[in-house]
Amino acid sequence: MKTHLTTFVIALVLFSCNPKEKQLTEMTSPNKKVVVDFNLNNDGQPFYMVKFNNKTIVDTSYLGFEFKDIPAFNKNFVIKNTSTSTFNETWQMPWGEQLDVVNNYNELKIELEESSDLKRQLNIIFKIYDDGIGFRYEFPEQENLKGDIFITEEHTEFNLTEDYKTFWIPGDWDIYEHLYNTTNLSEIDALQFANHKNLAQTYIPENAVNTPVTMVGKDGIHLSFHEAALIDYSGMTLKVDTNNLNLKSNLVGSENTDYKVKKTMPFHTPWRTIQITHNAPDLIESKLIVNLNEPNKLGDVSWFKPMKYTGVWWEMHLGKSSWDYGMTQDMSTWTDGGKSHGKHGATTENVKNFIDFSAKNNIGGVLVEGWNTGWEHWIGFEDREGVFDFVTPYPDYDIDEVVRYGKEKGVDIIMHHETSAATETYEKQQDSAYALMQKYGMHVVKSGYVGKILPKGEYHHGQYMVNHYNNAAIKAAKYKVAVNAHEPIKATGLRRTYPNIISREGLRGQEFNAWASDGGNPPEHLPIVAFTRMLSGPIDYTPGIFNIKFDEYKKDNQVNTTIAQQLALYVVIYSPVQMAADLVEHYEANPEPLQFIKDVGVDWEKTVVLNGEVGNYVTIARRERETGNWFIGGITDENSRSIDIAFDFLEDNQNYEAIVYKDGEMAHWNDNPLDIDIETIKLNKESKLSVKLAEGGGFAISLMKKQ
Ligand code: NOJ
Ligand code: CA
Repeated sequence: MKTHLTTFVIALVLFSCNPKEKQLTEMTSPNKKVVVDFNLNNDGQPFYMVKFNNKTIVDTSYLGFEFKDIPAFNKNFVIKNTSTSTFNETWQMPWGEQLDVVNNYNELKIELEESSDLKRQLNIIFKIYDDGIGFRYEFPEQENLKGDIFITEEHTEFNLTEDYKTFWIPGDWDIYEHLYNTTNLSEIDALQFANHKNLAQTYIPENAVNTPVTMVGKDGIHLSFHEAALIDYSGMTLKVDTNNLNLKSNLVGSENTDYKVKKTMPFHTPWRTIQITHNAPDLIESKLIVNLNEPNKLGDVSWFKPMKYTGVWWEMHLGKSSWDYGMTQDMSTWTDGGKSHGKHGATTENVKNFIDFSAKNNIGGVLVEGWNTGWEHWIGFEDREGVFDFVTPYPDYDIDEVVRYGKEKGVDIIMHHETSAATETYEKQQDSAYALMQKYGMHVVKSGYVGKILPKGEYHHGQYMVNHYNNAAIKAAKYKVAVNAHEPIKATGLRRTYPNIISREGLRGQEFNAWASDGGNPPEHLPIVAFTRMLSGPIDYTPGIFNIKFDEYKKDNQVNTTIAQQLALYVVIYSPVQMAADLVEHYEANPEPLQFIKDVGVDWEKTVVLNGEVGNYVTIARRERETGNWFIGGITDENSRSIDIAFDFLEDNQNYEAIVYKDGEMAHWNDNPLDIDIETIKLNKESKLSVKLAEGGGFAISLMKKQ
């Protein structure tokens, strides 16, 4: 495989000592700017500290565990051994924001042993990168700790030294679909700011936030806290102690157990991560999260092709059509069932219309939601287990014909599995569901987990569901199926290990703009998302709404954007499957801006974040694999601003024909969202350009190589 040939690895144990010698408990990043110090206090309690450029970022922060039935891991430790090593490799993403990824870190391994009779052992591994750190706990094989271990809480602290400006969502155990809040760390109040409505009854523990949570310091230091390689463990939220500027792990639990995580010895935890950079753009360029994951275990996944897609989707969210065949069901009411209406969206004819449009516009796929029976009873019904079987189409949807027609036109059908969070039903049906996809040569499924988890008592982000999501993807891979989960567990870089985990939701997506009663996603939403949620992995945001006010469908809703900003999102928000979400007729009414969606790439050789400030604006340039063409996108919040671009990242001696799509003079997200200026110019490495972004606006540029 290509990846292996180009991988260059140096792993070298530099230092190892026996318990009698002085232990090395400090380690720096390759560029020496990030420093981790480990130590024990007088009670033998482990703690660590982190410095960046000689400044203490994380002060004395304790580490430990509590278990069911057995004594905690929190004190009486001695350091038995420490060792360090250094590692440097360059690996390749089969698809991604860039082709080559440098994975270069120094490792510090601390082996602890209890001084008490039990002499139980715990190892802590730190990987120290130039762009931050990751650490995890290893429970090695040992005499006095065997069999199943029940973790009631992990106590990992991040004791901060400054009252950072913090961009956060509440630590909801069921859903990440919250608006971001911007407050000082000392002002976080997760319950007061929780703003999720409907979809699920959620549980938010007192003053916890979900990760990634991003912070900006007075001197420009940027931090983001998250986790990597979340496997067979529950998701970590962070409890905020606003008085002491301290974050503490708070694992997601279950109502069915008196513990939060069950493991069998020996095992290790996910990585706890802190990305540390000098500025906002470097956070997006950081590859720490994927680097902390294991290499590709699936081998060749070239059966999955990154693509743009359209779909029978937005029309249901607008209320133009329905998922179900027989009864009204509108997203804003959910339980509004009743008389037959004839508004079913997933008809053979409608899907063919999307196929025709996609084929004409260089779009590789069509998502079809509401194609299978069950939507009449899928939510709001107490006993909804088993409503979907994922193989039985509604009578007006001829799946054979649709797939055949798509193949003729070079367009793939994207499968949809809304599980309504009835996971056991889904697990029973996965083989037949994925086998059906394989039969039709479908390689992408969008899955969904709306509502409370069945079995009752489980949460979307607990260990039970982490295993469900991961196992679903691993099983799907056997059928050459790639997964784009909605209402997912957060991304933690597992796409490196299982590159059929292509994208996911896990944020307030575009859909909220169609029906949210709180005014939809405000203009600052995506300039925050780019530096928070997007650090964890690809986002199925579903951009490209051209009919921004859609008054003919919903008078009280709109997208808070300009049309130029919708184009910018194809570059700014990364996903290897990128939806052109609007209705065919809305695109056909706007052929000039549509040209950008037609041209824009979805798979990148290189990504350069040109500028940005968390919550304010961001500009990203990406070079398409294969063609070498560049695409640039920039977005702003509710403030208008000018962005200066120097094109020095372009290739030497190469001219480009560029089309610039920017907000018109009168553009404004609310007053005039459709005002757009489109201009064709020539650009090269020496060029400079200043672009004005309207309030809630943006710009997009395609740069096609020209001799
Ligand atoms: C919520 C998903 O986010 C959305 O994209 C989908 O259309 C509905 N669930 C129905 O599955
Ligand atoms: Ca959703």
